[in-house]
Amino acid sequence: MEKIKAVRGTRDILPEEAGKWQFLESKAREFFSIYNYKEIRTPVFEDISLFIRGVGQGTDIVRKEMYVFEDKKGRKLCLRPEGTAGVMRAFIEHNLGIGNPVNKLFYIGPMFRYERPQAGRYRQHTQIGVELIGSLIPCLDAEVISLAYNYLKDLGLKEIHVHLNSVGCSNCRGKYKDILKEELHKRLNDFCPDCQDRFKLNILRVFDCKVLSCKELLSGTPVITDFICPDCGEHLREVEKYLNLLNVDYERNPRLVRGLDYYTRTTFEIIFLGLGAQNALAAGGRYDKLISELGGDDVPGIGFAAGLDRIIMAVDESKIPWPAFPAPDIYFVPLGAKAYDYLFPLCQKFRLNGLKCEIGYDEKRLLKNHLKEADKLKAKKVVIIGDRELDRGIAIIKMMDTGEQKEIKLEELSPGEKELEKNS
Ligand code: HAM
Repeated sequence: MEKIKAVRGTRDILPEEAGKWQFLESKAREFFSIYNYKEIRTPVFEDISLFIRGVGQGTDIVRKEMYVFEDKKGRKLCLRPEGTAGVMRAFIEHNLGIGNPVNKLFYIGPMFRYERPQAGRYRQHTQIGVELIGSLIPCLDAEVISLAYNYLKDLGLKEIHVHLNSVGCSNCRGKYKDILKEELHKRLNDFCPDCQDRFKLNILRVFDCKVLSCKELLSGTPVITDFICPDCGEHLREVEKYLNLLNVDYERNPRLVRGLDYYTRTTFEIIFLGLGAQNALAAGGRYDKLISELGGDDVPGIGFAAGLDRIIMAVDESKIPWPAFPAPDIYFVPLGAKAYDYLFPLCQKFRLNGLKCEIGYDEKRLLKNHLKEADKLKAKKVVIIGDRELDRGIAIIKMMDTGEQKEIKLEELSPGEKELEKNS
């Protein structure tokens, strides 16, 4: 019969790899909590209108990449392509702003985008993200950027670059879009069909185009930061001031536009050189109008999300060692049925005392094969009991690193791990 495989663009994280994910996730929880963020968990599917209104009708995500389906009642739903819109929906729905002028929320979870799969781009990928809701002050933009930057730096990643831009506000962006339209209109036929669509739907998206000839056509065009209003300009300067105070190494990239429509003012990406085309490890920005556009109060926000799939690739590429999977403290070797019945419940008692233990489940196995297995698992010590040892009331303890072994009395092999520690 034909075997069923994981769906294109999705993959299994096998036990060998899962430790990397656990490490990155627990480090993220630790880091986010140090910055006083609290976890929020939102559903993986939402009403489709959330993303149409939140992320934007003209974006590639909404036009081409969403997994849309109807439930049995005919509701139009979709798998979340990103985390911010869902968190804002929850913020509004549960009135999280009441009594908390500033909310700091983080999330970890899978996102779904129907993109063309390639290295670092999957149809199901995992993001860790933070959202800081309720403040307009620029030093918090810098704090959010520095959080993403320091998380990545702390992993040991060296070649990371923060790209910073401002996409202005609804007042100044409109003016810039008009100027860009005028510029590109003359040469529109020279652009790729996608860019011709972008020209109509959201002209800023042309800067996202990876087609070389489009990039060349765009090279001399005016940049948005030359057109932002004085307030947006001042905001950007302040963000830069605080980034410098926090020692975040960054560069201005006036052509950085993001693939989501909700951004206002600050946008940023953190790039890792050495990952090819999919080199953004983290990205985010300010979204001061998103909450009101989703039906909430006029509350601003800023956040970022980082892609764990890509961070793992970057750590591997940098040859940074991952923490080892914790090895068993004790591997119990029962030689014979009687010994097995003695050790099986004892192993459980040690486990309930918090020691990581394994037992050789086949009591007929030869000692040398048990030891091979213990070695493979990198067990620290082995406790061996056969029928002969049981009759003599002793157990043999072997230290796996030195090979040293000794006998201890069975009554000393009690659940309190201390006795075993003492005797070994
Ligand atoms: P985004 O740039 O679309 O932003 O995604 C954030 C990060 O998720 C990217 O920088 C990348 O590392 C990872 N990523 C995105 N798509 C894929 C994919 N198909 N395969 C693998 N990794 C991927 C957002 O989603 C915004 N919600 C970020 C944000 C939070 N802005 C404000 N708050």
